[in-house]
Amino acid sequence: MFSVYCRSNDYLQIVSPDRKVAVNFCLNKKGEPMYRVSYLNHEILAPSRMGLDLSDAFLTKGLKLTGEERTTFKEKWNPVWGQYAEIVNHYNELTLSLENKANRKLQIIFRVFNDGIGFRYMLPGNGEAVVIDENSEFNMPTDNEVYWSAACFENDESLYQVCKLSKVTEALCRKSATPGYARFSPCKTGFNTPLTMKTPDGIYLSIHEAALWNYPGMSLELNPKELTMKSLLASKSKEKALVNLPFSTPWRTICIGNRAGALIESSLILNLNEPCKLTDVSWIKPMKYDGIWWAMHVKESTWELERSNIHGANTENVKRYIDFAAQNGLGGVLVEGWNKGWDGWKNFRYTEPYPDFDMKELSQYAASKGVQIMGHHETGGDVQNYINQMDSAYAYYQQNGIHSFKTGYVGFINKHFHYDQWMVNHYNETVTKAAKYKLMVNIHEPIKPTGLCRTYPNLMSGEGMRGQEYNAWSDGNPPTQSALLPFIRNLAGPMDYTPGIFDTQLKNSPNRPENGGVHSTLANQLALYVVFYSPIQMAADLPGNYEGNEAFQFIRDVPVDWADTRVLEAEPGEYVMIARRDKKSNNWFVGAITNEQERNMTVDFSFLPEGEEYNLTIYRDKPGTSWQNNPTRYEIEKRVVSHSNKITIDIVPGGGFALSIMK
Ligand code: NOJ
Ligand code: CA
Repeated sequence: MFSVYCRSNDYLQIVSPDRKVAVNFCLNKKGEPMYRVSYLNHEILAPSRMGLDLSDAFLTKGLKLTGEERTTFKEKWNPVWGQYAEIVNHYNELTLSLENKANRKLQIIFRVFNDGIGFRYMLPGNGEAVVIDENSEFNMPTDNEVYWSAACFENDESLYQVCKLSKVTEALCRKSATPGYARFSPCKTGFNTPLTMKTPDGIYLSIHEAALWNYPGMSLELNPKELTMKSLLASKSKEKALVNLPFSTPWRTICIGNRAGALIESSLILNLNEPCKLTDVSWIKPMKYDGIWWAMHVKESTWELERSNIHGANTENVKRYIDFAAQNGLGGVLVEGWNKGWDGWKNFRYTEPYPDFDMKELSQYAASKGVQIMGHHETGGDVQNYINQMDSAYAYYQQNGIHSFKTGYVGFINKHFHYDQWMVNHYNETVTKAAKYKLMVNIHEPIKPTGLCRTYPNLMSGEGMRGQEYNAWSDGNPPTQSALLPFIRNLAGPMDYTPGIFDTQLKNSPNRPENGGVHSTLANQLALYVVFYSPIQMAADLPGNYEGNEAFQFIRDVPVDWADTRVLEAEPGEYVMIARRDKKSNNWFVGAITNEQERNMTVDFSFLPEGEEYNLTIYRDKPGTSWQNNPTRYEIEKRVVSHSNKITIDIVPGGGFALSIMK
């Protein structure tokens, strides 16, 4: 099939530093740029076209090669926070200079790493260009198992699906879309990214993008008969992107490994972003937080003030959450529903608190307890109203000693998709502008992360998945969903899932909707602090559900910033076990979860340094329980462990275990 496109000796090859990953590039007879990818002699990507079409120039065919340049790069860098204290960025780069008959130029740049590849387009010159289409193909040589969510330019809150590529149908895509969102699908069959796959040879790969600046987000259209995929750029008009030249597109990325865990351990997406642009990062602090949040989702209180007598964000109540945070080593208290606009869900005011929320008093009270208030800006989809107030809103937080806030984009946006170029620019502007006011950002209903947190490490976390909130008021997330998240959404960047619900059956929340409830055991909720990566993690439950519960000690102890990360066992949608080393103390923490299947997992402690003893605390499911049956019953066991130990632990359906391994 290969020779249909190019003769094999027409290909230019570039390999990874360890020579395991290879990219071959050629121009076929029609002058179309083509690439293919292999890993350890397995074909990962069949010949696939590439190129951009501009409003005044086709740069997808009729091209000739005018130049070729190769470089090698190696650096070590230290992220402000992350899965590692130090990251190696090592790749070989190939830049191809192309030209059409009218001398319009396009460069294609490949970077090949030991854990995958990235490529981007560069438009040289000056003036403006209008991108009307991007033709980046990802053609599969094999009918891979695919872990996916349907293509959508508006929303990333659907349940993930698992099947063979050839079995993806229009009906399945529509059925699996977030309720109400199927009509926004840009194609009959296709995916949002990250899109993760397993080949019949047991190789894992994930397609995504890195460094998404000033360009629409990319989804993929699938032809399930041919097993081919093509880029789709989010836009409501034919013009997908208006750019100033010279312009570089985001990187199109394929992360590759022979273990599923290698995808989680990869830093490919971060490495394809620019280094940190902030000189002072002392104000950026990973932390755990509680907040005025779950109470609203389980209908204990409300965001609105006027239409209720149980307004959550009132001064006395917020003080209780501050006290709880201070007593338990949580750094922040999120306050939702503190500002005017919730009554009527419009015209949100970002510098005007509700009268029962005393901003001055609370910020002083929080400071006196060593806790930070975390602000919240819900836009309700009225992004222009937010843009008009951004500067004053951020200055207001800064004046009140607030160093972080969460944003929200529930609802449709006038004239725009959530993921089009205008919205990408808006999301990114919240981050760059917040940095000027020394504010950390956590974006809900975001554009998917693409590693910008390397460049702006005040972009702490985000949603862009079906998070814990769905367990309060929908039919919830099945256990499989948690066992898929680390292999799909979390590969893109930190995720604010908000774990830690102890009252999983919502027994202490009588107003909850009938079908509410968390589909996991309590021990599984603990494990999520390690299994799901984010430098901010919420202790999401009502403080009363933690008080007096011994398992809460794990949430007190678990850090959110890591020196090292090792995936010990992993299979997407089945199980995952991750060990991480605390950046501050060298203590280790392990989290393991399963889907609906019970199983046992063996922890091999050889990640510990030799010759040292650690105090191990095991938080695990009580035998005979499951996510449906007594999910909150757990056992705590303490013992001493060292490098040579192996311990097998049983996990019940929807369960998990969490280990703290401390000096
Ligand atoms: C959706 C967000 O994901 C959730 O966390 C928030 O509480 C609500 N919107 C209200 O803004
Ligand atoms: Ca949401």
